[in-house]
Amino acid sequence: MANANHDLVIIGAGPGGYVAAIRAAQLGLNTACVELEDALGGTCLRVGCIPSKALLESSELYNEARKTFSGIGIKVPLVELDLPTMLERKDKVVKGLTGGIAHLFKKNKVTRYLGHGRLAGPRTVIVKGPDGEQELTAKNIIIATGSKVAQLRGVEFDWDRIGGSTEALSYPTVPGHLVVIGAGVIGLELGSVWNRLGSRVTVLEYLERILPGMDADVATEAQKLFTKQGLEFQLGSKVTGARVEGDGCVVEVDGREPIQADRVLVCVGRVPNTDGLNLQSAGIQPDRRGQVPVNDHFATEAPGVYAIGDVIRGPMLAHKAEEEGIACVEHIVNGYGHVNYNAIPSVVYTHPEIASVGKTEEELTEAGVEYNKGVFPFVGNGRARALGQTEGRVKILADKTTDRVLGVHIIGPRAGDLIAECAVAIEFGASAEDIARTSHAHPTLAEVVKEAAFAVDGRAIHI
Ligand code: NAI
Repeated sequence: MANANHDLVIIGAGPGGYVAAIRAAQLGLNTACVELEDALGGTCLRVGCIPSKALLESSELYNEARKTFSGIGIKVPLVELDLPTMLERKDKVVKGLTGGIAHLFKKNKVTRYLGHGRLAGPRTVIVKGPDGEQELTAKNIIIATGSKVAQLRGVEFDWDRIGGSTEALSYPTVPGHLVVIGAGVIGLELGSVWNRLGSRVTVLEYLERILPGMDADVATEAQKLFTKQGLEFQLGSKVTGARVEGDGCVVEVDGREPIQADRVLVCVGRVPNTDGLNLQSAGIQPDRRGQVPVNDHFATEAPGVYAIGDVIRGPMLAHKAEEEGIACVEHIVNGYGHVNYNAIPSVVYTHPEIASVGKTEEELTEAGVEYNKGVFPFVGNGRARALGQTEGRVKILADKTTDRVLGVHIIGPRAGDLIAECAVAIEFGASAEDIARTSHAHPTLAEVVKEAAFAVDGRAIHI
């Protein structure tokens, strides 16, 4: 077996792993990254965030061309869907970005190994690639193997008609009836895509609300808006089974009539990917949820073995994994490295977008923290009116005594971009007054954030 030695070996080249690899190389470590897939970038770039955003963008433009162009004075005689071209464009976007990471690896002198990596004790990784096995030794190892689709008891996946998000990014034709199981982030994003492209979309959700964990007001408003757009929600639906039958599918829901569908998208969460990692060889035991236990510095029980991203606790978000990758490597090299989990934003890329950072009202109430609330609607903003996108609002929660910003929840146009300012505010320990007294360019959507900050003290101007 061929043998190589590195300072750091990272297993997995998703946003956690590849960012950690580049940062480690910047800090002077001889770094290697093991990745099973040809394309670098992990779920996010290959079959997650990026392709879904490409489809969300294209499907929204199609929708606008059909539904809103005539109202703003643009006559388009015939708007037709060309699904193969839409899917091709998505694949091109993915290819450009994954190729970009290969380029960044070369530029930073990160050694890339193609194959499946597994531990063989705390300081050794075996890579099983197309040309056989290779043994890598390293002082430090980072596990960044991400997550995979969680399955549901009774649901018989054929990874075609009944599948997860990967399949839903490439349906070759628009399904007549798509049943989405789970009204979380993936269900709403990909459900929106196919709804815009012409599918009837039924979303089955176990709970009595959509988007669990997000601010309840925002989730209620989102459900209203998505219902208006055509998504059919069946809340309180416990799916007990699904199978392919003929050239369609049948979905069984506890206590209700079975539902016929052309395709089924299962998105009831994701589970950490620890398959075949041979963690036991280093004395690491995943917990009950399959997560790799780590301390505050991402160290596992095994000396020199760390884990970051979706395989450990916390939200399964690309940018959370990136922060952890950088903090983990910096801690290995110079003894410092920290992630402020309270300032990690989360975004749902529907239309309008939904974004939040910090604490929800429910969390503050439960913790007994007293807060003031400032809310401002997009309808009071000039730019939103000019855009023709006036749905939604910004809500800022600030400590009742100190005025420190504790949480911001936005539903509205470009919420995902607007939340960045709010994450900075939380990171810097800003007060609502700080945001309110900061000049925001006019006319921009960001003025809604400023107005919501004014509203915390009951002095919003344009309402
Ligand atoms: P999720 O955890 O966001 O939502 C799953 C939903 O399925 C929940 O509402 C849950 O109550 C429901 N559910 C569970 N069991 C059910 C059952 N038997 N019948 C009906 N409903 C059931 O999971 P999702 O959407 O699969 O996303 C997976 C992960 O990927 C999440 O952690 C998410 O944060 C991440 N992600 C993030 C994105 C973003 O940041 N924009 C985009 C896509 C995924």
